Amino acid sequence: MKSTILVIGAAGQIGSELVQALRSAHGRDKVIASDIHSSPPEVLADGPYEQINVLDKAKLAEIVIAHKCEEVYHLAALLSATAEKNPALGWDLNMNGLSNVLDLAREGHIKRMFWPSSIAVFGPNTPKDRTPQRTIMEPTTVYGITKVAGESWCEYYHKRYKVDIRSVRYPGIIGYKSAPGGGTTDYAVHIFHEALKQGHYDCFLSESARLPMMYMPDATKAVMEIMAAPEEKIGLRTSYNISGFSITPAMLADAIRVHIPEFTIRYEPDYRDAIAQSWPSSLDDHMAREHWGWKPDYSLQAMVEDMLLNLKKKVPVE
Ligand SMILES: NC(=O)c1ccc[n+]([C@@H]2O[C@H](COP(=O)([O-])OP(=O)(O)OC[C@H]3O[C@@H](n4cnc5c(N)ncnc54)[C@H](O)[C@@H]3O)[C@@H](O)[C@H]2O)c1
Repeated sequence: MKSTILVIGAAGQIGSELVQALRSAHGRDKVIASDIHSSPPEVLADGPYEQINVLDKAKLAEIVIAHKCEEVYHLAALLSATAEKNPALGWDLNMNGLSNVLDLAREGHIKRMFWPSSIAVFGPNTPKDRTPQRTIMEPTTVYGITKVAGESWCEYYHKRYKVDIRSVRYPGIIGYKSAPGGGTTDYAVHIFHEALKQGHYDCFLSESARLPMMYMPDATKAVMEIMAAPEEKIGLRTSYNISGFSITPAMLADAIRVHIPEFTIRYEPDYRDAIAQSWPSSLDDHMAREHWGWKPDYSLQAMVEDMLLNLKKKVPVE
C-alpha cells in the first residue's frame, strides 16, 4: 500500500490552505484532511476527508495505520484567546492531542511530523525586539504554556525515540481564504473584511501593539520547506523562530489607507491587548534561515495589496 499524508485540524485557518498546497504538490488523493467535524468544509471537499477527534487515540491510530499516514501535520489546538476562556480544555487538547500523535510516531507508524508552535511561547520577561531563538520564555497564557511544554515534549521524543518532528513558531497569520480561529492576532484579518464592507474597523488591540505577523503563502511555504529539508539540516527539534514583518494596528491601518483613503479605525482594547503586550514585537529568525533556508516573500505592503485584491473578488462592495 502507498503511504499517505494526514492533516489533523485541517478545517481551520492554516489547515484549509495547507491541505490545498499539499494536494497541489502531492496529488489530491494522497492528502487526507481530518477535523473534529463530521463533514468537511467546501474547500476540503475535493479530496479524502476523515472525522478525527485527536483526543480519541484509538480512532486516530486506526486511521493512521489503515491509510499508512507516514507524514502527519498536526494543527488541532485551542488558540490563545479561546483557551483563556477554557484553560482546562486548552491544556487537554493542546497537550494530549500532541502526545497522541507523538506516540504514533514513536511506535513507527508516522515517519515525519509537523506541529506548529507560536510566538505565544514568549512572555513579558522576554526581550521584545528581535527576540532570540533561545531566551527567557515564561508565557502567561495557558496557550503559551502548552506551546512551551509541547516544544520540549517534541524535542524529548526526538532525542529519546528518534521521532522526526519539525516545528516553527508561527507569528500571527494573515490570509483571505479562511477565517481565523480565536487568536490574539485575528484583528489583522478582520480589519480587511471590515475595511471593504464598512470602511471602518473597531480594533480590539491598542494602536501601538506591535507584533510579528506573516502572510499565509509564507506560512504555507515554511511548512512545506521545513518538511522537505534533509533530516540533518533540522538542528533544532524544539521549534524555529520564523518571521515575516512586524506591525502595529496603526501601521496596518495606514497601509490599508493607501488603497482605501476613507478607511477609519477606532481602538477599543480588550483582554486580548494584555496578551499582545506580553508577546515579542519582532523575532530573530537567523537559525531557520541558516539551517533550512527560510526566507519570507511578503512585506507588509505586498501582503496588503494581495489581500485587498483577492478579498474584493469575494466581498461584495456597495
Ligand atoms: N493562526 C495563527 O495565527 C497561528 C499562530 C501561531 C500558531 N498557530 C498554530 O497553528 C495551528 C493551527 O492554527 P489555526 O489558526 O489553523 O487554528 P484554527 O482554530 O483555525 O483551527 C484548528 C482546527 O482544529 C480543529 N479541532 C479542534 N479540536 C479538535 C479535536 N479535538 N480534534 C481534531 N480537530 C480539532 C478545529 O475544528 C479547527 O478546524 C495551531 O496549532 C495553532 O496553535 C496558529
